[in-house]
Amino acid sequence: MNPLDGERVLLGVTGGIAAYKSVQLARLLVQAGATVKVVMTESARRFVGELSFQAVTGQPVVHDLYGADAADGMAHIDLTRWAGHFIVAPATAHLLARTAHGLADDLLTNLLLAWEGRLILAPAMNRAMWQHPATQANVRLLQERGVVVAGPGRGDLACGETGEGRMLEPETLADYIRPSIEPALQGRHVLITAGPTVEAIDPVRYLSNRSSGRMGYALARAARDAGAAVTLISGPTHLQAPAEITTLSVQSAEDMHEAVMQALPCDVFIGAAAVADYRLPEPAPQKLKKSSDTLALNLVRNPDIIHAVAQSGQAGFVVGFAAETRQVETHARDKLARKGLDMIVANPVDGKDTGFDVDYNQGLIIDTQRSIALEPQPKWRMARKIIEAIAERLKTGE
Ligand code: CTP
Repeated sequence: MNPLDGERVLLGVTGGIAAYKSVQLARLLVQAGATVKVVMTESARRFVGELSFQAVTGQPVVHDLYGADAADGMAHIDLTRWAGHFIVAPATAHLLARTAHGLADDLLTNLLLAWEGRLILAPAMNRAMWQHPATQANVRLLQERGVVVAGPGRGDLACGETGEGRMLEPETLADYIRPSIEPALQGRHVLITAGPTVEAIDPVRYLSNRSSGRMGYALARAARDAGAAVTLISGPTHLQAPAEITTLSVQSAEDMHEAVMQALPCDVFIGAAAVADYRLPEPAPQKLKKSSDTLALNLVRNPDIIHAVAQSGQAGFVVGFAAETRQVETHARDKLARKGLDMIVANPVDGKDTGFDVDYNQGLIIDTQRSIALEPQPKWRMARKIIEAIAERLKTGE
């Protein structure tokens, strides 16, 4: 079971050096469960061979408006009817211009004109071409029309310059393809904390924990896919920032507390972060030297973020997490009541393959009325179930 099972993606590829990266994009989408059909422009075929895409997707590649591809002369209509998603990566300045002005002089631009769904364009070009008033005007026109312009990012460009114009990485672009799930949180603001917090001891040392942030990030994506506007407040992690989610990076529990309070109000708050309970009141300004055999750190309590959110009255529905090593349900129910939560997800963290820093998790969704068992499963799937349970409660609560 994969997050994009059953999804049908049309991937347009235009003639830019970044076209080689689109092979990886196609591969990631296929690995995530999607069926991918690639449409290339003539100039794209000068950069990458269609065989590469064909091998990766297991599907024939199409490019010719009049050729055998379009057996009945209706390839543009057939393909747009078939697809559930449409992304063009890389999208050259020329493709942006043609799309903005409704030109349809090859198969790809015909498809774009016949497409009625959400369109994602991933620009890639030289910095000056991107900044050119003509390109910028085209981008504005496309955005006004609801087209999702993904990137470009900053960095080294193939032309040797550095600046804005780089196509986003395939991993990030793949995240723009949202699974077709019930838009049960449409119009809601969901605020999520994720990852560990880091509490400074001195300029080079800190106190932290083993949270990877994966569960919180999976929840952020699941809420986004269910139609919510999501704000993710994350402690330090190695994870890629999710697409189309406002992500703020913080270090300490105090930073996280402040960022959360500023991001309120929200319809749903999910506290998935493993917030350090204690910190040093004054981290040492210089690196500590080992002058004695033992070292005692004097710690003070950190703010309880989720409790503060529940007390504020500015979050409609508050969901906590309880990672426990024993008496999981008892401790979780106690936290539900003590912190004034509407729901808590309890998960045992002594399992070998579930819990911290792994892709699987298990647990119990608990609220005052019931508890739902979640068997060991990938975090993305567990996240969808938690979001469904929250949406269900919001619906019945209205
Ligand atoms: N939490 C929080 N702020 C804190 C501590 C915890 O927002 N300072 C949130 C976590 O994000 C989680 C829930 O509270 O949603 C439970 O976290 P946990 O660390 O298990 O709770 P504690 O109150 O720290 O309980 P324990 O006594 O088990 O440490």
